[in-house]
Amino acid sequence: MAIKIAIACTKGGVSKTTTTFELASALARKKKKVLLFDLDPQGDCSTWADVKSGEISIFNSLTEKDTPPPISHINAYFDIIPSSSKLESFESFNVTGKEVRLKKIVDKLEDQYDYIIYDTQPAISFLVGNALVASDYVITPLTCDEFSVKGITKIIELIDDVQDVYNKNLKLGGILITNFHKGMTMHREALEYYKSSDVFKNKLFKTVIRQTQKIKTAVVKRMSIYDLDKTSHAAVDYQKLAEEIIKKFK
Ligand SMILES: Nc1ncnc2c1ncn2[C@@H]1O[C@H](COP(=O)(O)OP(=O)(O)OP(=O)(O)O)[C@@H](O)[C@H]1O
Ligand SMILES: [Mg+2]
Repeated sequence: MAIKIAIACTKGGVSKTTTTFELASALARKKKKVLLFDLDPQGDCSTWADVKSGEISIFNSLTEKDTPPPISHINAYFDIIPSSSKLESFESFNVTGKEVRLKKIVDKLEDQYDYIIYDTQPAISFLVGNALVASDYVITPLTCDEFSVKGITKIIELIDDVQDVYNKNLKLGGILITNFHKGMTMHREALEYYKSSDVFKNKLFKTVIRQTQKIKTAVVKRMSIYDLDKTSHAAVDYQKLAEEIIKKFK
């Protein structure tokens, strides 16, 4: 059975997609078989991985019975199910068992993988709910900018709700500090605050993902930051995160 991880935070722009793609790539480099679901209708992860959905997309699999999702192979260890713009209409789509549709798909696939990772949209939505119902762990990225904390509170409430009703095994796997720039006083102060706060300190990953401008070039070139420059801060940090997760998530 795969270990299933949702990368989720209701706040936009906190590195959900970056973390999903780089973590999946890092685990695959460690010869872990990974399946990434791009569940964000924006499709940023699919664009980065340079894959498009065909006529039959994840939307069909979520809304029809027995329609397997299209799987694209990135390499021997890394598969992806791309997003589709049709996913937007899932919110208003009338279908029975709407909260557990993804779990039904995942139940049939998970034996083939070590890790299944979901990229999610910055919202409280049925799509995010489906990801949490089909997960063992949630990783919540947190930046050192103002207002980022609000997204954490909301996702923790959502985890509680999903635990109560659909998935008692769901856990907050950890809060991941991302896009950290040591040279910025505000970032250093925020990190100190998170590390000393009773709310955060026991939930933080040891690994902190440092800001690396080359990540934007990696996206444009449709490659992971590691493949672009394995000595860059973010490449080193996402490798460390993969190691921390392999040890921590069982
Ligand atoms: N470690 C990093 N160093 C530099 N830039 C980063 C880093 N992590 C993320 N970014 C940049 O921050 C921006 C937001 O990142 P990303 O798209 O991963 O966030 P997101 O949470 O998925 O956003 P959304 O909520 O819109 O889906 C992007 O431009 C990305 O390249
Ligand atoms: Mg995103």
